[in-house]
Amino acid sequence: MYALIALLGASSVLAVPAPAKRADIKCPIVFDGRVPTAWAADPTQFDTYATNTIFNPDYVKGNDLKWSGILKFPNVTKSRFDTAEHTPLEVTISDQSIFQQQKGFRRAGLQFLKDAADGPGQTGVKTLHFSVKQDPSRPLNLTHEYLNVWHEKADYSADQIQFQTGTLIGKSGADKNKFQILDQNNKQLYSTATDKSQWQNFAIKLDYTKNQVTIYYSAGDAALKSVAGPTSASLSGGGQFQIGILKKPTGTSDVVNGGYQESNLNEGQIYGGIFLEDSANNCVSL
Ligand SMILES: *[C@@H]1O[C@H](CO)[C@@H](O)[C@H](O)[C@H]1NC(C)=O
Ligand SMILES: *[C@@H]1O[C@H](CO)[C@@H](O)[C@H](O)[C@H]1NC(C)=O
Repeated sequence: MYALIALLGASSVLAVPAPAKRADIKCPIVFDGRVPTAWAADPTQFDTYATNTIFNPDYVKGNDLKWSGILKFPNVTKSRFDTAEHTPLEVTISDQSIFQQQKGFRRAGLQFLKDAADGPGQTGVKTLHFSVKQDPSRPLNLTHEYLNVWHEKADYSADQIQFQTGTLIGKSGADKNKFQILDQNNKQLYSTATDKSQWQNFAIKLDYTKNQVTIYYSAGDAALKSVAGPTSASLSGGGQFQIGILKKPTGTSDVVNGGYQESNLNEGQIYGGIFLEDSANNCVSL
């Protein structure tokens, strides 16, 4: 016991604990979805084009809701690519999260303000970064299928890339306690267990010129590592990224309009370090 105390004493002199490791973004940023810390104190910044310089204030959300009511700012450590100037944010869904006439879904999805069907997010080689963290006070109900991050074709016919969790409809073998990254044919490109305590950092490199996808991943503050690919996957069709929560109903083949959703929903997904970078010349921030 005394030896242990001596050891602890010595190490505390020699090695003052370093602040958590953060990483710089090394490649040109195409769309920056990292949120200024000041916006957490005044979330109405998200509600209008005059003030929201990051995301589309009008989409994709419950018809009667505003982003200032949808987004929360939990007191959690920052994710790997957020600096002191950035805050994590939590996208939440409630019974009011009905977009247009889509009564089957409960959804709230952020779109980069300048992302467009024929814009720079759809050409060359681009890498979408995002980190996720779970909120124990607003857990997802994994009996349902969740689509949380994706890239949807301009004609809305499919999603070239899908980041999902929960019980994926029509995929009985899938583990609901994992995050899965699928291509547009629901072929699994990568999966990893959902971590209930620490950040999980994902980067999805989309090579639009070769129709190839490479996935990078790390947990906590660790550097990203390439974990899958490059894998062939069709990335044609333009479109847009979306980041948030889309919860599908159970018990229906018409997931957009039908099925069952519980009442009194209070669910959330925490995000940090959202950005799209230019991966020309194989540049990926790790
Ligand atoms: C946030 O969490 C930290 C660490 O747990 C704590 O010291 C701090 O008081 C919290 N801040 C607020 C505003 O709750
Ligand atoms: C999860 O969803 C199912 C299906 O909607 C529902 O029956 C169940 O009560 C929900 N569980 C929780 C903890 O909300």
